Amino acid sequence: MRRYHVTTFGCQMNAHDSERIKGMLEELGLGEAPSPEEADVLVFNTCTIREKPDTRLAAHLGDAKVLKERDPDRVIAVGGCYAEAQRESIFARYPFVDVAFGPGSIPHLAEWLGAGGVGVARSSFGIAEERRFAATLPMHRERSFQAWVQVSMGCNSKCAYCIVPAVRGREVSRRPGEIVAEVTRLASEGVREITLLGQNVNSWGRDLRPEIDTEFGELLRACDAVEGIERIRFTSPHPKDFREPVIAAMAESRTVCEHVHLPLQSGSTRLLKAMRRTYSRERYLQLVDRLREAIPDLALGTDIIVGFPGETDADFQATLEVVEAVGYDSAYTFVYSPRSGTEAAAMPDQIPDDVKRERIERLVELVQRIGHDRNRARIGLTEEVLVEGPSRTDPSRLRGRTRRNTTVNFLGDAGAGELVQVEIDGATSTTLSGRQAALVAA
Ligand code: 5AD
Ligand code: SF4
Repeated sequence: MRRYHVTTFGCQMNAHDSERIKGMLEELGLGEAPSPEEADVLVFNTCTIREKPDTRLAAHLGDAKVLKERDPDRVIAVGGCYAEAQRESIFARYPFVDVAFGPGSIPHLAEWLGAGGVGVARSSFGIAEERRFAATLPMHRERSFQAWVQVSMGCNSKCAYCIVPAVRGREVSRRPGEIVAEVTRLASEGVREITLLGQNVNSWGRDLRPEIDTEFGELLRACDAVEGIERIRFTSPHPKDFREPVIAAMAESRTVCEHVHLPLQSGSTRLLKAMRRTYSRERYLQLVDRLREAIPDLALGTDIIVGFPGETDADFQATLEVVEAVGYDSAYTFVYSPRSGTEAAAMPDQIPDDVKRERIERLVELVQRIGHDRNRARIGLTEEVLVEGPSRTDPSRLRGRTRRNTTVNFLGDAGAGELVQVEIDGATSTTLSGRQAALVAA
């Protein structure tokens, strides 16, 4: 049997796309190989959000080149956002790559690879006539009890730093009936937690009007009504589109978790404007207040960029203030990385590396201190945890996540996929620790 290996970079959307790529390759009759060395078809599902993933990909492709030299029949395919950004020029840089394809062309990958992964037309960039949802393809799921469900593809925002709209195109929403049917099928297969995925989940449905008049809150309620689903998450919402019906749906739906990932990017209104985020610091903070009022015990996560062109010390200070004021439970922090073709890459006043480094260090320190405080406040509480498997650091313990999306390492005897009560007795800036409640009682 011929075998494939998929290496995935980037966000959850890409991880989900990889599940579809794997499902499709399996339908072609290929089996999964445990490593690239043992595979006949090597797929790299790439990311290009910052420069770092580009560099990491280059290293991986260097290894693939060696494998290809050893066995020229190996097929090397590069998909995802980097491929879409580079298009044909990928073959000039990496002549040993056989096929390249963008995120909208996954459904066509099978045709390009041919049955069993042979007969591929070398050095072709797979251009699909139209972008199609990978969501309708067979899927190879990594965990039986958790699943991603794609609600839309593409993004209509114009954030000045971001390459995503260029590589994933304009927003197209999947029809609600199709989404709910998928969630229902997943539930019947034993899935207990779903994460609804979109570049901007809160604008979901807008392009379906007037034929279908709906919005994301309604979708949350419809998924909440599906028998067997215990937890619903979604990522990512854009603060500009977070409206009352979604807040109400979160508050009133049993299975929608008390967690929102709400990208801030900057705490300075002036910089937010330059970034084209279309909200001010005040509007963001008001949204946080409304969310917290409606959803008690809400956990908030965020994304923050430091060193955007023109960022002054005062702008950076404003970001630190918002981080302190909100008190995030978790935050991803990024050094601004110019992406060619984006508006910000051409802006004057690019920030020197040493300034960016100094700022990110200060920001990380603050984020960690607040995360630690927030987690310490959970000590003594009992939290519902969905067990994911053995702990990564200590296999004698279990690992899972709370509804608020915090990882917990704990002493227990439950199996993966079970919901258990855990008494929290310890905290770091990013994790909790504890013991399964029944064990404590026994
Ligand atoms: N440089 C740094 N960070 C970026 N992000 C997006 N584009 C860039 C860039 N050019 C960050 C944003 C986004 C997250 C997924 O990546 O914070 O929310
Ligand atoms: Fe995901 Fe953006 Fe990376 Fe594409 S470029 S994989 S959308 S993070």
